[in-house]
Amino acid sequence: MAKTRSSISPHVLIFPVPAQGHINCMLKLAEILCLSGINVTFVNTQQNHSRQLSFGNLHSRFRQFPGFCFETVPDGLSDDQLHSAGCHRPEDLVNDSFNRIQNIIAPGFRELLTSDRFRSDARGPVSCIIADGMYGFAIDVAEELGIPSISFRTVSACCTWICFCTQKLVENGDIPFKEEDMDRPIRSVPEMESFLRCRDLPSYYRDKEVNRRNLDLISTETLYSIKATAHILNTFDDIEAPILSHLRSYCPNLYTIGPLNALLNTLRCSTTTNSSSSSLPVSSNASLYAEDRSCMTWLDGQPEKSVVYVSFGSIATVSPEQWLEIWYGLINSSHRFLWARRPDSLLIEDGDDSQIHAELVEATKERGYTVDWAPQEEVLNHPAVGGFFTHCGWNSTLESMVAGVPMVCWPHLADQQINSRYVSEVWKIGMNMKDDFNRVTVEKLIREMMVDKRDELMKSTMKVAEMARRSVSREGSSYRNYEALLEFIRKSC
Ligand code: UDX
Repeated sequence: MAKTRSSISPHVLIFPVPAQGHINCMLKLAEILCLSGINVTFVNTQQNHSRQLSFGNLHSRFRQFPGFCFETVPDGLSDDQLHSAGCHRPEDLVNDSFNRIQNIIAPGFRELLTSDRFRSDARGPVSCIIADGMYGFAIDVAEELGIPSISFRTVSACCTWICFCTQKLVENGDIPFKEEDMDRPIRSVPEMESFLRCRDLPSYYRDKEVNRRNLDLISTETLYSIKATAHILNTFDDIEAPILSHLRSYCPNLYTIGPLNALLNTLRCSTTTNSSSSSLPVSSNASLYAEDRSCMTWLDGQPEKSVVYVSFGSIATVSPEQWLEIWYGLINSSHRFLWARRPDSLLIEDGDDSQIHAELVEATKERGYTVDWAPQEEVLNHPAVGGFFTHCGWNSTLESMVAGVPMVCWPHLADQQINSRYVSEVWKIGMNMKDDFNRVTVEKLIREMMVDKRDELMKSTMKVAEMARRSVSREGSSYRNYEALLEFIRKSC
């Protein structure tokens, strides 16, 4: 007898924007749903999929779930383009990916969903789509199929809220703004009137031609996302409550279920021991780069809380001059450091600076260690790590919060500017480099984080870590919201 929708488990299709930060948290959600007995199809773009399969541990991680499978859609990237990523400015990469989303990825997705591909699927037809908040087209496809769509914005609630206020910012003449206006206060974003400046706004509000195109797209997609049946944010109520009440007036069906890395650990623990987690074991990422685990052995040999972990995420690039300023700042701070230097993060290598490098390499041997790509969550949870020098991507920020590690923030693009303002001014769990970037500032802020301001910083860092852990415990807000989300998904079937 043919299976009817009501006699089978829900079948959720998850579709992230093809970037490391987006894929990581969407895969965590996929695993969480699988642990709750939901069938999941995860849609990757082709080249990211092959990179993840060659570097990651995806096969072993998902093999245990018979209801899980991957699908791919074309991304329009050639091998050459993929491997020359380090030669582009980050803005170009982001802009290019927006073009590819509209012209290649969206049509590929529509074709996948409307073809016969899922008609004969043993798991039944797709009963719900969870797509990135920037994928308005997925809402339309869900509507055509008569199934609910859930929009998942992978950035913080504070960044999402600013995107909702874009029109107001334009009407007020606040954006776009010029370089010389960086310190001008911004009063038109409710809840942020007392501390928001131009420099804290997401980078696409800066007055550059490329930003103007992206700004239109972000504003349109944000307003369009309201049409989704429900919304997910990777955050927790204790840290973003006032902002969330504003967002809920636009998106009443909003589930805040973060930090997802911590929720995943709770679910993993409860399925293996049937009790909730208190020690938070470490979860794994799905990397687009090969993880170098030798740093874990190096960390094992370092004193407790002595090491500064340095990483600027998966998109940010640095110039050779900035590279040297970071390096000198780290060496001059006299603290131990582990630096994850993504191979394509150095913009262009030029000139003969081998002598400078030789001096720095020598000094690094004494108290530093470098890898191309680290198992970040494990690193942050290692007892030897005492601080994080970060670009403040939202995943990194949450991972640091959960691990109870204070931050020095050097934001680059997109949401990182507003995240870093919240880290320093609202949650008080780190210091913000504020575009004032040179070796002296790097050295000064690292010393403050590790020594001079350590006590006060650790007080709020531990408080936030405790709130994060509580939110994913069985009585916590994110856990309860996750149960409500599950019920919503089950009803869709
Ligand atoms: C950027 C944004 O700033 C982010 O907020 C947005 O949601 C996606 O685009 P990205 O630069 O990738 O993201 O930073 P982040 O969100 O911090 O994600 C990076 C991920 O890669 C983290 O989960 C981190 O654990 C992982 N990572 C990073 C590693 O596993 N190893 C590394 O060496 C570096």
